[in-house]
Amino acid sequence: MPPDHTLHVGDNLDVLATLATGSVDVVYTDPPYNTGNDFAYRDRHGVGNGRHAAWVAMMRPRLHEVRRVLADHGVLFISIDDNEVAHLRLLLDEVFGEEQFIAQVVVNLNPKGRQLGPWFATSHEYLLVVARDIASCRLQATSASSVLESDFPLVADDGRRYRRLPLRNTNKKFNPATAPTLHYPLWGDPVSGRVATAPFDGAEEIWPVFGDGRPAVWRWSAPLVDARPDDLVCRSVRGKLGLRVDIAQRDWLHPGRRKKLRTIWLAEEIGSTDTAVAELKEIVGHVFESPKPTGLVRRVLECMPDDAVVLDVFAGSGTTGHAVALANAADGGTRRSVSINLPEPTRPGSFARAAGLLAVSDITEARLRAVAERFGDSLEVVRHS
Ligand SMILES: C[S@@+](CC[C@H](N)C(=O)[O-])C[C@H]1O[C@@H](n2cnc3c(N)ncnc32)[C@H](O)[C@@H]1O
Repeated sequence: MPPDHTLHVGDNLDVLATLATGSVDVVYTDPPYNTGNDFAYRDRHGVGNGRHAAWVAMMRPRLHEVRRVLADHGVLFISIDDNEVAHLRLLLDEVFGEEQFIAQVVVNLNPKGRQLGPWFATSHEYLLVVARDIASCRLQATSASSVLESDFPLVADDGRRYRRLPLRNTNKKFNPATAPTLHYPLWGDPVSGRVATAPFDGAEEIWPVFGDGRPAVWRWSAPLVDARPDDLVCRSVRGKLGLRVDIAQRDWLHPGRRKKLRTIWLAEEIGSTDTAVAELKEIVGHVFESPKPTGLVRRVLECMPDDAVVLDVFAGSGTTGHAVALANAADGGTRRSVSINLPEPTRPGSFARAAGLLAVSDITEARLRAVAERFGDSLEVVRHS
């Protein structure tokens, strides 16, 4: 049995070369952002194009390797901020192909906003999402944890929660000219709520119309209405043109229901840099300055199968391995994490140094050990010279 968590200590370019082609389902990673002072690969220019060129030159061979180790159905999620987002997007187009681009998610990791600097108080960064092969990609861009009970305010006689959605298609692109088979009359009784495709006692004929009275279309075909009449309800509604009879779908909050994820992820949903520091402090101490919250990685994991092999090639404080353990504990999944970090020295005078963690990979290892112990997981550490 492969270990639940593996840590490779070494340069990710060397380590990636040892991983099998197509062996990874999802990569989440968070490379150095090239802020001009924390980038190990900065060249002597320090600013301007030379700085970007050096960063891109560092990333290019690593992204080629990331692409090679991803399975065809796999996906890369990569965090980045304004310093390199433009260069990274173009580099991803070059390495993966622009047809593989899925999303540029805005991640609100600093809700108060960064107060330093002369202009806006930056409160977000990005998560770029790219498929290895968009046609076979297994990403499900939905989440169960973002489904709120309060979005389903109505309660049926049997206790099930639901919300009402108009049966009429509210998208103006769909109309009798573009979808003629969905423009047909239904019969409904606003007193009993009953809906049918044929007349019945007490029923009125109802055509789909937009709010301004123009003809519209239904979202359901007539056979679907016949198959699920109990999921529809006829009611009197007050519109722009006064009282009229309309049909709504009863949209149920069923167990396992998922919701399409938006491309803005809020700190209140996934955590912030502050909550990430607190999470790290709780498990090993305040030994790393800019960890990601486990909630960010857990949301990524929610989009992929629960037996995924999850790789982080710039693992830092080991957030990805921690998120994998938390996700498995929450849903019974069998995900495995593979983390890589360079044994680069920690800063003299830092909390990490004071805690005896001389290299950044010692921080990764300390957290993954604590995670393995807490969750009863196995950890293998491989040192590459
Ligand atoms: C922005 S941090 C990642 C933080 C991480 N997401 C977390 O939550 O703690 C980037 C990490 O990449 C590591 N790193 C930089 N170059 C590397 C390389 N060539 N191979 C492996 N790790 C590298 C650095 O040591 C640093 O820990």
